[in-house]
Amino acid sequence: MAQLLAVLLALGAVATLNVQVPEQPVVALFGQDVTLNCSFDPTGPFNLSDLSVFWQLTDTMRSVHGFWSGRNQLAEQAEGFANRTSLFLSQLGSGNASLLLRNVHIADEGAFTCFVRLNTYSSAALVLQVAAPYTKPHVTVTPEANLRPGDEVSLTCVAYGGFPEAQVLWQDGDGRNLTDNVITSQVANEEGLFSMRSILTVEAEPSSTYSCRLRNLVLGEETHTSVTIIGLSSAFPPVALWVTVGLAVCLLALLIALAIVCHRKIKESCKEADMAEEGKELDEESKTAMTQLKDTEKS
Ligand SMILES: *[C@@H]1O[C@H](CO)[C@@H](O)[C@H](O)[C@H]1NC(C)=O
Ligand SMILES: *[C@@H]1O[C@H](CO)[C@@H](O)[C@H](O)[C@H]1NC(C)=O
Ligand SMILES: *[C@@H]1O[C@H](CO)[C@@H](O)[C@H](O)[C@H]1NC(C)=O
Ligand SMILES: *[C@@H]1O[C@H](CO)[C@@H](O)[C@H](O)[C@H]1NC(C)=O
Ligand SMILES: *[C@@H]1O[C@H](CO)[C@@H](O)[C@H](O)[C@H]1NC(C)=O
Repeated sequence: MAQLLAVLLALGAVATLNVQVPEQPVVALFGQDVTLNCSFDPTGPFNLSDLSVFWQLTDTMRSVHGFWSGRNQLAEQAEGFANRTSLFLSQLGSGNASLLLRNVHIADEGAFTCFVRLNTYSSAALVLQVAAPYTKPHVTVTPEANLRPGDEVSLTCVAYGGFPEAQVLWQDGDGRNLTDNVITSQVANEEGLFSMRSILTVEAEPSSTYSCRLRNLVLGEETHTSVTIIGLSSAFPPVALWVTVGLAVCLLALLIALAIVCHRKIKESCKEADMAEEGKELDEESKTAMTQLKDTEKS
């Protein structure tokens, strides 16, 4: 029992390496450098050649950066990290095993484990979150001109080069959320940065304002662009106006001609009908006369 306690105490004593990393995800901007903090408590001064530091990808255990026997060990370094990592060698002696990662890629996002060995060993993992700001959204309206109230209008909002995927929101002039008739797509380029395209379809109304709002949740950034559809009714173009007037005049002439022809036809057919009626009446009368004649013969 006493022996077991001694072993536990010994374990407790050696576990005081106390490796520490940030608990919150470390946010890095795409293309920038980031320091992944990792610190440990050396119980006293030590010989650097007794220290080992390994930075690994937590999930795949692939090597990001190694240090032992008093120097960097990069033979096993995963390809994607070549020439992009370093430790702060002058600070290792004081318990700073932080990793400098240069030119951050989207693919770097994920968990990193910091292993430290000095007689005993300990480790801790942190999460790296990569972010990139979107360009200010740009909104185009189609069709651009000749709009009349009730016409279908497409508003297209685009923004580029962001990460992670953006939250897109359309609002009307009163700040109401528009979620119907919205189609949004986000496509990543070979670097992993997203292009966002969102199309809102509305019925044209005079002087209506729409805004496309974009939010990057990691950066806590929001940008927006508004467009106003103006002067719908007065936007009747001269060419279309004359064509319409011309067509209307033609149609009117046609209708008048048609009316005259119809009127004549109706008159003619009325005459015919009258004559037919008269003929029938004559027949009826003669029949009655005949029966009357027969009746008188009988009696
Ligand atoms: C890294 O550590 C330094 C010194 O303790 C601190 O000032 C800095 O905020 C830390 N950075 C992160 C991302 O935790
Ligand atoms: C480690 O040293 C680097 C370079 O001086 C510094 O930026 C970083 O904040 C240090 N990290 C800690 C945890 O002290
Ligand atoms: C550190 O360790 C190396 C190898 O064990 C040894 O050659 C060197 O003298 C040591 N240095 C100190 C300051 O103890
Ligand atoms: C890393 O740097 C070395 C020397 O400057 C160079 O030869 C090598 O091509 C670089 N590797 C990458 C992946 O950039
Ligand atoms: C609009 O949607 C956003 C995001 O979904 C939400 O935060 C906000 O409260 C909504 N606003 C209204 C007026 O519904």
